[in-house]
Amino acid sequence: MPRQDGTVAIVTGGGRGIGYEVVRHLARLGAHVIIGGRDELEGLAAIRRICDEYKEAKVEFKKLDLASLHSVRQFAQNFKERKLPLNILVNNAGVMLVPEGRTVDGFERHFGVNYLGHFLLTWLLLDTLKGSGKCGSISRVVNVSSSAHCIGEIRLDDLNSCQHYSAHAAYCRSKLAQLLFSRQLHQEMQRGGFPVSSCAVDPGMVDTALYCHLWTPLRLAQSVVACVLFRTPAEGAATVLSAALSPNPDGDCGGGYWANGCREMSTPPTSEPQLQLSLWEISIQLLSLH
Ligand SMILES: NC(=O)c1ccc[n+]([C@@H]2O[C@H](COP(=O)([O-])OP(=O)(O)OC[C@H]3O[C@@H](n4cnc5c(N)ncnc54)[C@H](OP(=O)(O)O)[C@@H]3O)[C@@H](O)[C@H]2O)c1
Repeated sequence: MPRQDGTVAIVTGGGRGIGYEVVRHLARLGAHVIIGGRDELEGLAAIRRICDEYKEAKVEFKKLDLASLHSVRQFAQNFKERKLPLNILVNNAGVMLVPEGRTVDGFERHFGVNYLGHFLLTWLLLDTLKGSGKCGSISRVVNVSSSAHCIGEIRLDDLNSCQHYSAHAAYCRSKLAQLLFSRQLHQEMQRGGFPVSSCAVDPGMVDTALYCHLWTPLRLAQSVVACVLFRTPAEGAATVLSAALSPNPDGDCGGGYWANGCREMSTPPTSEPQLQLSLWEISIQLLSLH
């Protein structure tokens, strides 16, 4: 992959798992990477490991809790005050199968952390992304979704799972929402002629701490199966990195859905313009954005 000297990237949840491998690789290529995460000790330990490996690595940790809109706003404001460019935003952080609960602002946790927190973060950083992209070197928003989006269902009248809660359904819904957001954002940027693309990625089944909330017997079975069948975090990061770094062939405006290292088709609901637009507009209302 091409050198990334001069590139500035933000990776949410980059202290461990897939995100850590994305940060490590970007730093190795010369990018200045900012990890946005909740756990400062984990973030600093990640930086130490990367700097031990690559002496020149430029990696920072900044506090970001996607379950708090205030924290997201604070993170974005602090970043913007530094007047740095932003070339790559990787919306990677996520939770899966967590027990029913609410974010600080009262949103169902999968929906709030995986989707709405990232929506707000991207929205607040959009001007910087637009200003940092150039023809031939567009800024990129990479949303780490999942193949689980295929069985997700968006119920616009119950995005917060108030009527019925299933952790599995809530996770799949949040991943479908990320895909719809990614498509709508990409179109908005294309229509406005802005040098920003947005895509969604499925990293595959990867052996990480994401599975820690599985029901215990399933968790035990998963840990055995994962050793043999799951990808390593570095392998999972490969598709994310391809989406973030692969040069666009002439006339190709990027975007789309990436899986197994290349662009793939996604399920029909993700291409429904009305659903994309409705979710976009409801999210703007929920976040009181204009
Ligand atoms: N592993 C898989 O098989 C798989 C498959 C498809 C998609 N994915 C997606 O890949 C992404 C990365 O997952 P992973 O497998 O690498 O899992 P992971 O190791 O559990 O990493 C998740 C990261 O998200 C962070 N995070 C969670 N809640 C947060 C919050 N409120 N604010 C900020 N950061 C938060 C975690 O940090 P904390 O220490 O703060 O919790 C952690 O750094 C997720 O979006 C996941 O849905 C994974």
